[in-house]
Amino acid sequence: MATAAAQRTARADGTAEADAAAHEALFDAAIAADERIEPRDWMPDAYRTTLIRQIAQHAHSEIIGMQPEANWITRAPSLRRKAILMAKIQDEAGHGLYLYSAAETLGTSRDELLDKLHAGRQKYSSIFNYPTLTWADVGAIGWLVDGAAITNQVPLCRCSYGPYGRAMVRICKEESFHQRQGYELLMALSQGTPEQHAMAQDAVDRWWWPSLMMFGPPDDESAHSAQSMAWKIKRHSNDELRQRFVDASVPQAESLGLTLPDPELRWNEERGHYDFGPIDWTEFWEVVKGNGPCNEQRMTQRRRAHDEGAWVREAAAAYAAKHKGATGAADGPARAAGGPSAQQAGESGKA
Ligand SMILES: [Fe+2]
Ligand SMILES: [Fe+2]
Repeated sequence: MATAAAQRTARADGTAEADAAAHEALFDAAIAADERIEPRDWMPDAYRTTLIRQIAQHAHSEIIGMQPEANWITRAPSLRRKAILMAKIQDEAGHGLYLYSAAETLGTSRDELLDKLHAGRQKYSSIFNYPTLTWADVGAIGWLVDGAAITNQVPLCRCSYGPYGRAMVRICKEESFHQRQGYELLMALSQGTPEQHAMAQDAVDRWWWPSLMMFGPPDDESAHSAQSMAWKIKRHSNDELRQRFVDASVPQAESLGLTLPDPELRWNEERGHYDFGPIDWTEFWEVVKGNGPCNEQRMTQRRRAHDEGAWVREAAAAYAAKHKGATGAADGPARAAGGPSAQQAGESGKA
């Protein structure tokens, strides 16, 4: 795009001796003008670090989130349900890939991010530390967990960092399919036998509160919120998004013929929103600290999957090296294949 963003890059590159204040002023002006920051633009170190942390956590959540649902692939009740579930889980793998790629444009590598995940130094969404006990959980995850994810992610399409915002556009389209399939699955169960209805209700009872926790701690306790909003990485506060999700979910629950497990949930005419009961933040922090029902299982399985995939990475690297040798092009296919070293060499100098 030959826009002001491109001019900004040119100006920054053309004045190598320009001090940090000049760079910062250009960056601040771009943010104020709602322009996109691109990988080669100058950016404050803290902006870069915040984005790497957020995008990495998001990417990790996509791939860890495959586990609770994959638990039900072999037990899906029909071929149709199985095909839908497999498509959804494959989408989540794809979301992980887009997001790791977006993080790589900030000068880190996928290997580095995965090492940090496996060492417990980067997090993933706590929601995936809850178990999927019945088939209805697949519906509740689609309706509530993917629904909460969409509420969070639609505003991220306008994130000030270009590669992240653009990745979110496609992700959100796929997330709405995920939400619909969960809703439709729950509708079938809710209108089925009394046992099926009870199973749907039980799943909603277990997933409702953890879904509300997905928006993160209340605004006054959220460590990074204010700065992220100033940088236009985030566009709305945690509490604002949580309220939006509650307001959307209540009528949907009514259409499903299911109840939400909160006796304090009621329409507040004055506020124009639904009031809801207090969230158990002690539970939230316990799960974040690693004491949720499935934290250990998720990480063990993730590390095993990574180890078992070592031969694929080795084969891809050997193929890329062979191809590079054959063409003699130092910046050719190996770079196109997106090897972490090529990516790092291309971007790390921009930090
Ligand atoms: Fe996803
Ligand atoms: Fe999803």
